[in-house]
Amino acid sequence: ETVDWEPEAAGKSGYPHYMLKEINEQPESLRQTLHGRVDALAGKVDLPEFPPGTFEDVEQVQFVAMGTSHHAGMYAASMLTAHGIPAHAYMAGEYADCPPPADGRTLVVAVTQSGETADTLNAVRRARSAGARTLAVTNVVGSSVTRECDDELFIRAGPEIGVAATKTFTSQVAALTLLGERIAGDVTGVASAGARDLLAALSELPGDVQQVLDDGTAREVAEALYGCDAYFFIGRGPAYAVALEGALKMKEISYEHAEGFAASELKHGPLALVTPETPLFGVLTGKDETKTLNNLKEVQARGAPVIVVTTPRHASAASFADYVIEIPETEPEAAGILANVQLQLVSYYAADLLGRPIDKPRNLAKSVTVE
Ligand code: G6P
Repeated sequence: ETVDWEPEAAGKSGYPHYMLKEINEQPESLRQTLHGRVDALAGKVDLPEFPPGTFEDVEQVQFVAMGTSHHAGMYAASMLTAHGIPAHAYMAGEYADCPPPADGRTLVVAVTQSGETADTLNAVRRARSAGARTLAVTNVVGSSVTRECDDELFIRAGPEIGVAATKTFTSQVAALTLLGERIAGDVTGVASAGARDLLAALSELPGDVQQVLDDGTAREVAEALYGCDAYFFIGRGPAYAVALEGALKMKEISYEHAEGFAASELKHGPLALVTPETPLFGVLTGKDETKTLNNLKEVQARGAPVIVVTTPRHASAASFADYVIEIPETEPEAAGILANVQLQLVSYYAADLLGRPIDKPRNLAKSVTVE
């Protein structure tokens, strides 16, 4: 597979930062990721690299990745688990140090934008030595991970210059959703009940992302809340991965203290940190968010500003929130992508207001090739 990258695509095209340009590129990069891979009418995934039956022997799926890519892996693992397939996302560095049991019926999916992250490459080597089957999900054709893995799936997001990963997370989650549907279909022998609706939602997603980009709420929230003591993010299932990614983006580019928690974890410790100076973002993208709403109620009672990122489905959340950042209605599995774009914008504008060097945060590198 070849990907044509125009040289001018690497310029800032009038945007003040690569990060903002890349955030705004997401309708197009997502379209590229999905191009030719979704047959929404037939309700089928079309991945020529992996025809139906490719994964029928798979007994468990292990995702290995770092940073933003780890969050994409967590998101995918929680979708596969919901399909009844044993799946877990490991931080690749931990996997390499302390590998879980794996064998020839284990599919190890290495998620890495650059394809060069040392921790992730090492995890792949451990997996291979256990006899596992390895598959790289990456943005870079010809990268090291593609040489180390048995198979590869390209996310086709185009070049990403900003150190903070944005459009590549969106494309990773989209590509992993398609891969997950193929794996689930092969392992269970039937297309998942919601496959048709999910694929239809994915085809609509580039337009939905554009709606998010045209919405100014994230900027208003950043203007109202930048410069606080700390920022917390909570969610359940795939939204937990989005909460972690929201916090990672905030710490990477704004240098503000930010943490993501599973919503269920909040009352087991983190709640002690909540004050009127610690805004908390609730990512509500599941089918039933009653429990998360209760968590938000507890946070609001302690005086913390509550920001809810959600679809119109959970409009009742507004009564526990100081700010509602809305995303278009879609399938729950796809909604996390939209919520994440809103959180990218919040972090971007907060970092900009704080005068941070957004594209090149201190101490961080785009690609980390040492362990
Ligand atoms: C570095 C980057 C992160 C990235 C991580 C994994 O820490 O600063 O933005 O998510 O590496 O990179 P990869 O290329 O493997 O996705």
